[in-house]
Amino acid sequence: MEKKKWSELWLSYDKVTELGGSQTLTIEGFDAENRIIKSAAKELERGFNGFAKISFVRESSVAKEGYEIAGADSKITVKASDENGILYGVFALLRNLAMGVSIESVNEKSSPSNPLRMMNHWDNMDGSIERGYSGESFFFENDDIIINDRTVDYARLMASIGINAIAINNVNVKGAATYLITDRFFDKVKKLQDIFADYGIKLYLTINFASPIEIGGFDTCDPLDETVISWWKDKAKEVFEKLPGIGGFLVKADSEGRPGPFTYGRTQADGANMLADAVEPFGGIIIWRCFVYNCTQDWRDHKTDRARAGYDYFKEFDGAYRDNVILQIKNGPMDFQIREPVSPLLGGLTKTNQILEVQIAQEYTGHQIDLCYLIPMFKEVLDFHTYCKEGADTVADIISGKTMGNKNAGFAAVINTGNDYNWTGNDLAAANLYGFGRLAFDMSLSSEEIAREWVSLTYHMDKKSEDTLVDMLLNSREIYEKYTSPLGIGWMVTPNTHYGPSVDGYEYSRWGTYHRADHHAIGVDRSDKGTGYAQQYYKKNADMFNDPDTCPEELLLFFHRIPYTYKLKSGQTLIQYIYDSHFEGAKQAKELMEKWESLKGAVPEDVFERVMERFKLQVENANEWRDQINSYFFRKSDIPDEKGRKIY
Ligand code: GCU
Repeated sequence: MEKKKWSELWLSYDKVTELGGSQTLTIEGFDAENRIIKSAAKELERGFNGFAKISFVRESSVAKEGYEIAGADSKITVKASDENGILYGVFALLRNLAMGVSIESVNEKSSPSNPLRMMNHWDNMDGSIERGYSGESFFFENDDIIINDRTVDYARLMASIGINAIAINNVNVKGAATYLITDRFFDKVKKLQDIFADYGIKLYLTINFASPIEIGGFDTCDPLDETVISWWKDKAKEVFEKLPGIGGFLVKADSEGRPGPFTYGRTQADGANMLADAVEPFGGIIIWRCFVYNCTQDWRDHKTDRARAGYDYFKEFDGAYRDNVILQIKNGPMDFQIREPVSPLLGGLTKTNQILEVQIAQEYTGHQIDLCYLIPMFKEVLDFHTYCKEGADTVADIISGKTMGNKNAGFAAVINTGNDYNWTGNDLAAANLYGFGRLAFDMSLSSEEIAREWVSLTYHMDKKSEDTLVDMLLNSREIYEKYTSPLGIGWMVTPNTHYGPSVDGYEYSRWGTYHRADHHAIGVDRSDKGTGYAQQYYKKNADMFNDPDTCPEELLLFFHRIPYTYKLKSGQTLIQYIYDSHFEGAKQAKELMEKWESLKGAVPEDVFERVMERFKLQVENANEWRDQINSYFFRKSDIPDEKGRKIY
């Protein structure tokens, strides 16, 4: 068979088609000509060759987008109350079979934890991808839209993990992308939208808040200006007529140089609500990002605290947002560092729709060179008790709609794909792509279950090899954390690129990301005696974070300024912990590479080589981090390593 131009990732179906045979499909209660039902049938045909009678059955008792699959005596039934449920049921069936479950024992019921399960592309229309580490965009090139077989395979991959919403363009909307909501691109956007719709996915567009200026020829985009309001109303009508079924718009405003309501002395709620009113007649949604902070700070200023910004800007207007506005909140208050506390906005808002935003593009977590399986981090965020409401106070409760009983809620990821053969640059980074979708669909799955599924579907390995790879994935985040910045302080990365160490790279800059290390201590005091950030949480968490004795140690330097001689719970001093963790992290990075070497033969040769190349770079990166961090803190503190290891 001719080798495909791009990898099939977890949808290779090798194991399923091996079964051989024939099948018949009956459809009860659904229109066989429905586009999603047709996709489900096509996928079955493609993936399944077993001897079986399969039926799709409409069953109103099954939850929205949920499914029940059951097999018995060469008969398989897929039940759902809607078309998406049937499609997800088919993918679940194929997954079961590919993982070796026999037809007779197939038995799975599932329904999505989150109403919206979304991917955010940071793809630009010139083909580049902001924070992309997997080649160029497969949606755009030369200020135009690309549509080909890969688009279809992409939609299949996304549907197979339960994704039902996709924003195709970068949150920083510049140049041609501003015109995605005009005649210049409607025809092609519609084609993309149709491909997505075949797989039950709603398309979203990211818009430029200054569109009335950039497209409309206005000299203002003030959200309270009547002419601006009516321009957006007309624009929304046009967009929803040309692109019926589009989900809505995603907006980054007043953030890192992007235009927004603040320019006109208006609030974030003014901006979001104006757009919400414009799309409301068409059932549209406005997803409004909360990544708003002062990015022109003076490093000399110790009072302004970037971590506070989201809560300070958005909490005041809790409840003032329209029902069709969803605030999209990054998991931490800073910016996708390897360790951050959960954003106090999550659950801090109790009357506003919320989506959790995470980043599987490995911007600060190793650029898809270093191995960093992020699902354990996401699980920690989801399991965090905010104390916003008794019995329904975890982040998972909030974003699933359980806390407030709302349906405009969910989970979004900044995606890690590009047009590389393997989609994700590092073949192993596909575990994050797969994992995010599976977790967004079913938040009760464990990091290990997800890792096992992905390994098994992708590589069909023997048990011992599978255990090795799963173990590598599960430990990778902690290893990355050990050799990079310590105990939640974050940053210390090379400015702009965000790969590799530069301890003071962001220390004297305008971005509000300081560690404030001197010869005596390190960290920012965010307690009630410092910037007061810890007070943004509900009392139980505020008290916990406020006191260094009760603050989770992995976040100690996020919340507190701590002397190098401070004794940690282990009895180690802080400085000794920094040395030890960095020596250990770099050593474990090398062990990861050795474990990968042991998998030669268990994975295809090309995969082995591509990943090996990256592990070599990871080991170099980890050594560089170890030596720069250790030398930096030795020079600052003048306290030698107790174990006498080499520090430069
Ligand atoms: C980070 C990232 C930017 C991105 C921004 C965002 O700061 O470095 O590239 O635009 O997040 O989330 O909007």
